[in-house]
Amino acid sequence: MSKRVLTTESGAPVADNQNSATAGVGGPLLLQDQHLLEKLARFNRERIPERVVHARGSGAYGYFEVTDDVTAWTRADFLSAVGRRTETFLRFSTVADSLGGADAVRDPRGFALKFYTEEGNYDLVGNNTPVFFIKDPIKFPDFIHSQKRDPFTGRQEPDNVWDFWAHAPEATHQVTWLMGDRGIPASYRHMNGYGSHTYQWTNAAGEAFFVKYHFKTNQGIRSLSAEQAAELVGEDATSHQTDLLQAIERGVNPSWTLYVQVMPAAEAADYRFNPFDLTKVWPHADYPLQRVGRLVLDRNPDNVFAEVEQAAFSPNNFVPGIGPSPDKMLQGRLFAYADAHRYRLGVNHTQLPVNAPKAVPGGADNYGRDGFMATRNGSRHDRNYEPNSFAGPAQTDSALAAPLEVRGWTGTHPAPGHAKDDDFFQAGELYRLMSEEEKRRLVANIAGGLSQVTRDDIVEKNLAHFHAADADYGRRVEEAVRALRED
Ligand code: HEM
Repeated sequence: MSKRVLTTESGAPVADNQNSATAGVGGPLLLQDQHLLEKLARFNRERIPERVVHARGSGAYGYFEVTDDVTAWTRADFLSAVGRRTETFLRFSTVADSLGGADAVRDPRGFALKFYTEEGNYDLVGNNTPVFFIKDPIKFPDFIHSQKRDPFTGRQEPDNVWDFWAHAPEATHQVTWLMGDRGIPASYRHMNGYGSHTYQWTNAAGEAFFVKYHFKTNQGIRSLSAEQAAELVGEDATSHQTDLLQAIERGVNPSWTLYVQVMPAAEAADYRFNPFDLTKVWPHADYPLQRVGRLVLDRNPDNVFAEVEQAAFSPNNFVPGIGPSPDKMLQGRLFAYADAHRYRLGVNHTQLPVNAPKAVPGGADNYGRDGFMATRNGSRHDRNYEPNSFAGPAQTDSALAAPLEVRGWTGTHPAPGHAKDDDFFQAGELYRLMSEEEKRRLVANIAGGLSQVTRDDIVEKNLAHFHAADADYGRRVEEAVRALRED
């Protein structure tokens, strides 16, 4: 094998990579040392903006295989036949901390999945929790500010974290989830993934259904106590990355079984609570889990920056037969992600290999042109306008999803007015499902955080939420908080 030659960015051979060029022995450096200047300048530009949330993450490739016939509910091509396989890329993440944060912390986990289908990339950008803290995207920047580092102290502040929740009763369900055992997964392999939002599926006959996605881990759910997590963070801050990487390198490929809950579209309007409210789950007794297929992760990325850091998932990357529901949070996200990608990665981020659609040879086929770092500019005979007389790509005239009927007046409406839209009953139901030991740990975790809050009014407002969820829950949290605050 011929010896590999070190080159400059322009491909010219480098003579000396150990000594900078100087004026005389021991003299100052020379501006003409192209290799030195390029090396230092290039190094200064290695970092790009980190994700504003979910900055710290790990990814892996794999495939999704359909195991059950779901064509009654969707005409999505990649779900159209049992045995059909689609290549995937999944990025797991924590939410609140920055890129250098630890993995084993109490935080929701991202579960962002890209299906490279033959009808384009389908992104399902979910979490390991079936619900979320808020139900209107207008609150998202405030929510995230309150959970990330304080602008003055540079630390996450219990006052801010709990002050936001004091003003967001709808967060009680997700707070109960987060402070419970599942709040710190033992690894990315040992947790479920959820689409969380309600999405719309449309079948070949044009009939619409609302669905919720559940990816159940086949490794079993495993969680860490607050004490175990603190110890693990001290030993290996990148514990979840280590676990995922090593499992796949050993050929122990993690897998999840996908189920959906399916609601015929006509049932949405009269359901007893708003089925598009992201702070609520649909009881399985109303809409049972229907198995769809199996997700397997079997290949680590070759380069973490190129493939994991530069991965771009957007909830509005749908394929025919799958579309959005009127969930306000989802609607806000349809804007937010691609906008973040244009800022973080640039307008041509879909030309990066991890993001490029594999359905069309050469990437997306449209009339979008140019911009920073463009590599896809069509062949020399392609026109850059449409319609044209030169056999350029043209629209299909086939609707991607069934239409939704809307009525009423524009306005900033707080709730759509279903019979049971209160913010607390599902938090109470979740609490009552827990064993005595789980309740004990939940109460201790909440009290550990809430007792650090310096203002009485913030503590009282939060206590009122737990009382509203369940009398026993409220009483026990209140007693535990008061005991710790009196210490
Ligand atoms: C990442 C916005 C709610 C899951 C992000 C990013 C933004 C964002 C701007 C960074 C994207 C990037 O730079 O690539 C929002 C807004 C929300 C919202 C405005 C509410 C209105 C949610 C919800 C979920 C979620 C409800 C889960 C159900 C994720 C995940 C990532 C992410 C998994 C990381 C994606 C990746 O691995 O690249 N979000 N988010 N977000 N968000 Fe959200």
